[in-house]
Amino acid sequence: DVGKSGYDHYMLKEIYEQPRAVRQCTRGRVTEMAGSLELSELPASVRSGTDRVQLVGCGTSFYAMQYGASLLCEHGIPAQPFVASEYDADSIPIEPDTLVVAVTQSGETADTLGALRAANRAGATTLAVTNVVGSSAARECDAAVYIRAGPEISVAATKSFASQQVTLAMIASVLAERQSQPFLGALRDLPSRIQHVLDTSSARHVAEEIVDADAYFFVGRRYQYPVALEGALKMKEITYEHAEGFAAGELKHGPLALVTPRTPVVALVTGSEDVVDRTLGTVREVEARGAPVVAVTTSSAPVEPVADYVLEVPETHRHLVPILTNVQLQLLAYWTADLLGRPIDKPRNLAKSVTVE
Ligand code: G6P
Repeated sequence: DVGKSGYDHYMLKEIYEQPRAVRQCTRGRVTEMAGSLELSELPASVRSGTDRVQLVGCGTSFYAMQYGASLLCEHGIPAQPFVASEYDADSIPIEPDTLVVAVTQSGETADTLGALRAANRAGATTLAVTNVVGSSAARECDAAVYIRAGPEISVAATKSFASQQVTLAMIASVLAERQSQPFLGALRDLPSRIQHVLDTSSARHVAEEIVDADAYFFVGRRYQYPVALEGALKMKEITYEHAEGFAAGELKHGPLALVTPRTPVVALVTGSEDVVDRTLGTVREVEARGAPVVAVTTSSAPVEPVADYVLEVPETHRHLVPILTNVQLQLLAYWTADLLGRPIDKPRNLAKSVTVE
């Protein structure tokens, strides 16, 4: 209990450690005055020789990679995320300019190491994005970039996800040689934005309102789609309740059949006007079926007519908003699990690091 610093669970402590974790992650790497981002761990050959990226990982790391892949693609670098246990280097083409990135908090996940070894055998250049210095992933890759989240004790990953998102956003920006001043400024301010979410979140109150549900659905578009998946994973890991994440646009192609007044829908409503409008279209569809709507948004104005509950996050660079919305989803899962009296730090059947394939 001493290690929990007064928090009831390591998970809550680690959620609250995110401003510090992100500050550590960017320290010495972002030089805003000079308008540059320096990732000295990335060898020059990787920086100049990478034209396409494949990412491999599991669980929460996979969702961070999905987010990272969409940023790489937006920067003009084709990138494909693979669930590590489904990665087959024999049938997935690796070109001389392909970088394979293994994203793993522990650096010891067997499925991820298996994919990484297959990529190494196929002759790919490999990069580990990990939290643990000297881990197997770090040792077996050509290079390693550390996410610097600090020790994560709770089985459910929280701060490591934020640090992976930040690290992948930095890697995408370095590989694309696009280091805009607004992005660097937003990275510098990110810890205070996260702190603001922690200080003002009403997720605990929302959890009290929706705790007695049949299932929880999470929807998002673009960068928020992987966050919807991660939000649902967090909810199912620690509450043992049924939770699913969907691309908002996919709801009408099947999952809408599951929506009832007893299935709260958590909608990530952020992005350009067009993305917000289309996500609100999805929200109206679930509202018409009587589902309670929790909107996670940067501005409550457009969601108020359709949302039962609003969890607001501050504005920031569009690439970093998904880090803030995810903090609200972590808190929502945490407080729901707490109300249900679950053993939050050690959920049944799960392990912090899965070292068997
Ligand atoms: C386990 C943990 C998850 C984690 C996954 C990948 O399943 O319970 O929280 O996301 O492994 O772990 P890694 O250390 O590779 O990021």
